[in-house]
Amino acid sequence: MRTYLVTGGAGFIGSNYIHYMFRKYGDSIRIINVDVLTYAGNLENLKDVENLPNYTFIRADICDKEAISKIFAENDIDRVVHFAAESHVDRSIRNPEVFVQTNVMGTAVMLNCAKTAWEKEDGTFKEDKKFLHVSTDEVYGSLPDDDSAFFYETTPYSPHSPYSASKASSDMLVRSYMDTYHFPANITNCSNNYGPYQFPEKLIPLMINNALQGKSLPVYGDGRNVRDWLYVEDHAKAIDMVQEKGRLFETYNIGGHNEKRNIEIIEIILETLQEMLPDSDPRKAHINRDLITYVQDRKGHDRRYAIAPDKIKAEIGWEPETMFKEGIKKTIAWYCEHEDWMKNVTSGDYQKYYSEMYQS
Ligand code: NAD
Ligand code: DAU
Repeated sequence: MRTYLVTGGAGFIGSNYIHYMFRKYGDSIRIINVDVLTYAGNLENLKDVENLPNYTFIRADICDKEAISKIFAENDIDRVVHFAAESHVDRSIRNPEVFVQTNVMGTAVMLNCAKTAWEKEDGTFKEDKKFLHVSTDEVYGSLPDDDSAFFYETTPYSPHSPYSASKASSDMLVRSYMDTYHFPANITNCSNNYGPYQFPEKLIPLMINNALQGKSLPVYGDGRNVRDWLYVEDHAKAIDMVQEKGRLFETYNIGGHNEKRNIEIIEIILETLQEMLPDSDPRKAHINRDLITYVQDRKGHDRRYAIAPDKIKAEIGWEPETMFKEGIKKTIAWYCEHEDWMKNVTSGDYQKYYSEMYQS
């Protein structure tokens, strides 16, 4: 039975990936999920799988060498899928150091522990061991505000925020292991994900939650920044396909071919909520454009991201499957059906974060 070590599996994409993998492979794989449970990690995301005999949760910090090497020593790990990271750009602007610690130092620990466990005496690696480093399109910087350019795997790195700089550094570390040791790895750089279990500090769940509560919808700057949105399950599928069908040592860009300005996203959310809520729902009365509030822009705000997923399509046959219209409906429906989940994650520290972040 193949054993996966998933880091950050209690977060948004990690938990969706774990669900996807159990749906696809059932009891023919084993997953060990290592997560330290920061504010973004939530075991409620994994309620459906927590009692499976082939699932294990270990609470540990990826920066803790001893804990991570013990996991490798006690388990014959075949695949590492490395999601664990500090992931929110705004938080990185306010507090950059933890991003360097987790994203750079944590990745160094993961790489070194995997290398130690997998390396043979002659310096080659045991058969069929693979490490996949989950990264972001933000490492490529910002594109011009028209359709003239896209991010390719060959686009030079030009990160602007402390978050993207830390992810770029971690990508470089993975590249250095591949180049120096021939360490069996891949890197994926993906665009903006959306879907169930996303923490409501990120644009889409924040706007859904605020609209349902009749709170203002804070739009940074002129609201015309562009992001390329991908339904999270399509990302999970792409990661699995890269690990099983991709060429080792290669980077693959993953994107939705779905560029939208932030203001368009907010308008779609408002329209979809209006369509989905029954007329008897009193919240319907306040869900309209009057909630939109333009606020101070994000510092160093990248204007446009857009992935050209040509390589992953040509080499692996992966394409985004979920149309935005369908994905956003599924996402909004999920948040409407999981009000308790939202209440739990927005109690306590979230209130403090929200008032500090949006007070101006
Ligand atoms: P998230 O913030 O929702 O989850 C991160 C998870 O990592 C949490 O469960 C958290 O507890 C865990 N974690 C943080 N620090 C840790 C540590 N020191 N040790 C162990 N666990 C730790 O993030 P996400 O949105 O699911 O993103 C996952 C990965 O995908 C990240 O590497 C991110 O850079 C990348 N990515 C995200 C997106 C996106 O749109 N969200 C797009 C492309 C790439
Ligand atoms: O591109 C991939 C990246 O996408 C991932 O690597 C990151 O982990 C993920 O957080 C995401 O980064 P963004 O900064 O693009 O996502 P966010 O949801 O924070 O913001 C999306 C856009 O919406 C961005 O242009 C900023 C804007 N925004 C965001 C918030 C939270 C607002 O206008 N208002 C808001 O309140």
